[in-house]
Amino acid sequence: MNPTTHMNVPIGRTSLLESEIQSIIEPLRSGWLVQGPKVREFEDKWSAFTGSKHSIAVTSCTAGLHLSLAAMGIQPDDEVIVPAFTWIATANVVEHLGAKVVFCDIDLETFNLDVQQLGSLITTKTKAILPVHLFGLAADMESINALAKQRQLWVVEDAACGFGSRYRGQHVGTLGHTGVFSFHPRKSITTGEGGMITTQDDELATKLRRLRDHGAAMSDLQRHFGPRPYLLADHPDAGYNQRMTDFQAALGSAQMNRASDILLKRQHLAQVYDEAFAELAWLRTPVHRSSYEHAYQSYSCLFQPESVNPDAVSRINKRRNIWMDALQKLGISTRPATHAVHMLTFYREKYKLSPQDFPNAYAANDCSISLPLFHGMTVEEQDYVIKQVLESAI
Ligand SMILES: Cc1ncc(COP(=O)(O)O)c(C=O)c1O
Repeated sequence: MNPTTHMNVPIGRTSLLESEIQSIIEPLRSGWLVQGPKVREFEDKWSAFTGSKHSIAVTSCTAGLHLSLAAMGIQPDDEVIVPAFTWIATANVVEHLGAKVVFCDIDLETFNLDVQQLGSLITTKTKAILPVHLFGLAADMESINALAKQRQLWVVEDAACGFGSRYRGQHVGTLGHTGVFSFHPRKSITTGEGGMITTQDDELATKLRRLRDHGAAMSDLQRHFGPRPYLLADHPDAGYNQRMTDFQAALGSAQMNRASDILLKRQHLAQVYDEAFAELAWLRTPVHRSSYEHAYQSYSCLFQPESVNPDAVSRINKRRNIWMDALQKLGISTRPATHAVHMLTFYREKYKLSPQDFPNAYAANDCSISLPLFHGMTVEEQDYVIKQVLESAI
């Protein structure tokens, strides 16, 4: 490479095999476009991979989180506990039901819910906890479930980034009352937009299947292949339309044929980064915890040229942004790992919050950085990122 040119390495890149792209043609030709046989096939593969009893495909993870809370009967005046550092959708679904978001700070080591603080946030109005398995690392589900059981709360796992992530050998999404995955293109398996709800609870599964389909007691597929296809279903609920299309499901289903390879590739890339950056005191790479299998939806680090504490955050933030600028000029895309939701205008104003109310979420917001990691990443691309990071003037 001559010195004036450089590579361009995106933060993520969708990599679909030609056979996966071709897989969408069959449902388009079949005439069955919405929630038909391909949706069922994708759900079955998802259940087999995660070990979930039920898998229910929907239009996005956000829709699945919303449907979960709706199925649990969350309503105005209820409180739902949400980590302060997560994608905004985790909190928005609580707002969509008119309930109150109660933020909980995170553990800066894992970027996940700080279970030490959880108990003190529970009131008589609390109805649910919404832990997030951020970036592919499971939240401390044993502590969360123990508290939820004791206080009779629902647990909805936000497993948007959770494909392949295991906690004590069990796939995330099978640990709470429901779990919800995302198939947005930044995720390991993609259908463009899309989501999957998992649950072990038969009653919730029935309710969720209805709610995604206008509240219908029977899906179109069941009706068409049932004894009396000419009669319409009853609607026991005023449901929503959150059905996945069959061509999206075909794309998801085709990728599930190499689900283990996708996961292994991402874990391998993360291991190469871990080893390359092991000596960098200023960059804390994702933590390893025994009994947790990290699935690396993203490779999210903490930039720590000095100790990260509330007084240093704004200083470190300036330096992080200068570093991000420098990497961008070299063609390497990076991102803050995600955002602190309590610092975003809607939540800051509605709940009158300041950054320091959740100091670890604030620090993560300002000092985190995700480096490019995607399962189609080439050795050359990763070597280039490693070289530029190691040569950075921090
Ligand atoms: C933690 C988390 N929750 C929820 C979502 C929303 O997922 P979707 O875009 O599928 O609605 C995302 C998406 O990035 C996410 O990262």
